[in-house]
Amino acid sequence: AHQWRGIIAEYADRLPEHVRRTVVTLGEGGTPLVPAPVLSQRTGAQVFLKVEGMNPTGSFKDRGMTTAISAAADRGARAVVCASTGNTSASAAAYATRAGMVCAVLVPDGKIAMGKLSQAVAHGARLLQVDGNFDDCLVAARKLAEAHPVELVNSVNPDRIEGQKTASFEVVDVLGDAPDIHVLPVGNAGNITAYWRGYREYAGLDAGAAHTAVATRTPAMWGFQAAGAAPIVAGHPITEPETIATAIRIGNPASWTQAEQARDVSGGLIEAVTDEEILAAHRVLSAQEGVFVEPASAAGVAGLLRLSDEGRVPSGARIVITVTGHGLKDPQWALRTPDGSEVTPLRVTADVVSIADALGL
Ligand code: F0G
Repeated sequence: AHQWRGIIAEYADRLPEHVRRTVVTLGEGGTPLVPAPVLSQRTGAQVFLKVEGMNPTGSFKDRGMTTAISAAADRGARAVVCASTGNTSASAAAYATRAGMVCAVLVPDGKIAMGKLSQAVAHGARLLQVDGNFDDCLVAARKLAEAHPVELVNSVNPDRIEGQKTASFEVVDVLGDAPDIHVLPVGNAGNITAYWRGYREYAGLDAGAAHTAVATRTPAMWGFQAAGAAPIVAGHPITEPETIATAIRIGNPASWTQAEQARDVSGGLIEAVTDEEILAAHRVLSAQEGVFVEPASAAGVAGLLRLSDEGRVPSGARIVITVTGHGLKDPQWALRTPDGSEVTPLRVTADVVSIADALGL
């Protein structure tokens, strides 16, 4: 039987040679595009979820890490470093282990979700909690990589973007063409950059011009930042970004210009959603669509629901929303009611009468 071979083997003809020579893979990509009937009903559009939590380490980062670590391995690198709000570190640690490399990760002090921290530790990363936020970590990681024989595997590494663009290919391969709108959360802005590149290449524009075009068009790119960490919306860096969506708690995105370009050329938008809207969207996804994501991943859904309430979603549009990371990464938010109180399971004795009674049967 056929098994998905990972994005490098599956999209070899669309990736540069230096990532294809020494392949380090965990079978990433090939994630499901799940129809979202409740969101479709609420918005009057045809909504799909690209469920990136189904990747090997539970987030979309694996697409860019297979290419970044493969390229590093090909150059004979022995060590890599990244700054991270959690998912990049989990992914880098796993792929570095696979390649027999040392992985150093710089994370903001006390601001990364337990699931992600556990992954980096389990995979043997040299984990350092930095007294600062993500932006400080990234500056330090860049300097470290310049001064020492360690390769930087953040999304400023072009090999990362090459891998992440394959998510757009998968969407088009399933739908038969690009959607009208593609929605996603924006943090350091690598992913919106990568999706836009993927869509352009598949439409026969840019570097993809050497290939046959698979899509006839490109979507409008809709990006959403958390309100307390929305530098692109504000038009200036945010020195103290704050949001419960720790994955996108970023005040000075590295791919800022590319994100604005994707927004403007695609006829899209980048706006902000509040933490309350993010948590409400998180609940719709888990309680009504059956899809469990981490809070940052719900930012796109929150944005779509807001725009729908404002009458800004074209009726019948085909919309794909990337939900970027798995709910088990940061599960605490599910154990809280909308008013903030803690959810505790009902206790019963182990007999059918009290169980049926508790269930109201
Ligand atoms: N969603 C999740 C779950 C993320 O982990 C990230 C970024 C984003 C969205 C935003 O993507 O940065 O490409 O705009 N996480 C990075 C990290 C910063 O370190 O794991 P972006």
